[in-house]
Amino acid sequence: MIHRPRRLRKNPIVREMVAETRLSKDMFMYPYFVVPGNNVVHKIDAMPGINHFSVDELLKDVEKGLKLGINKLLLFGVGEHKSEDASSAHDHNSIVATAVRALKKTFNDDVYVVTDVCTCAYTTHGHCGILVNDYVQNDPTVEVLSQMALTHAEAGADMVAPSDMMDGRIGAMRSKLDENGFVNTAIMSYSIKFASAYYGPFREAADSAPNKGDRKAYQMDFRNPAETMREAWLDEQEGADVLMVKPALAYLDVINNLKASTNLPVACYNVSGEYSMVKAAAERGWVDEQKVVMENMYAFARAGSNIIITYHAHDILERGWM
Ligand code: PBG
Ligand code: ZN
Repeated sequence: MIHRPRRLRKNPIVREMVAETRLSKDMFMYPYFVVPGNNVVHKIDAMPGINHFSVDELLKDVEKGLKLGINKLLLFGVGEHKSEDASSAHDHNSIVATAVRALKKTFNDDVYVVTDVCTCAYTTHGHCGILVNDYVQNDPTVEVLSQMALTHAEAGADMVAPSDMMDGRIGAMRSKLDENGFVNTAIMSYSIKFASAYYGPFREAADSAPNKGDRKAYQMDFRNPAETMREAWLDEQEGADVLMVKPALAYLDVINNLKASTNLPVACYNVSGEYSMVKAAAERGWVDEQKVVMENMYAFARAGSNIIITYHAHDILERGWM
């Protein structure tokens, strides 16, 4: 026999030597849910191991995370006043703006702070924009989102991450930031975001489920791979710095396509439903949590992700899984 591929699998040393995919803690970004108040650490039922934190408690948890190497954070605001026009989303004293200021004051540039920009946690109806006759109005929503991004930048955010899927929001946001002098505030676009049932646990965590209808008139149809490239191309033209695919596990083909067709860094979001499925199976002893989690992380990297946004990051680093 001429070819014996198993020779290179003979022992751990040779397997490490020929490994084609490497993971680094520098690839991980860790999401946080921030709520008003003090001394709040509130477990999120549908996401074991993940909490709502008030700003004071957030600072403590981030300090622990920093020791493990978790220095890229993605912030979501929860529990703010809800209105038709999402005005609390761009309040200078919103919970996210407050959290950003506190993080930057405490840790300076030891943390890289990214903020989610979307209105669904701030609207009475739970949709990602301004609703008229049950339809999310694109251009007025883009105005609100740009204002929200500016508020976050003023608070000191290093990067803003719009997750709404409106058309033209990256260009509008880039102009708004630039006009106000925030030329170095980066934009990570949720470019390819599918209308997905995998966001279920998050919507409980963020209290952001639409109270009527679904998000299919703005988030993408998961049957459409060609359209994903169109969305990504537009965001790139409009000045996005990083392009994201979301969810991740069920969309490895999309991550791979995107990586092959852009020179920008590619991020993937290993979303709440993907996280909770693994947690639930592991709790029952049906799968080995460490092994399944790491297999998933390598899958994201192998597919072409440079950045992995995952709720597992804390476990991976704290429990020494890599
Ligand atoms: C808000 C937003 C969602 C997620 C991130 N930003 C939910 C949604 O679009 O309904 C999902 C994150 C997750 O499931 O972990 N637009
Ligand atoms: Zn939203």
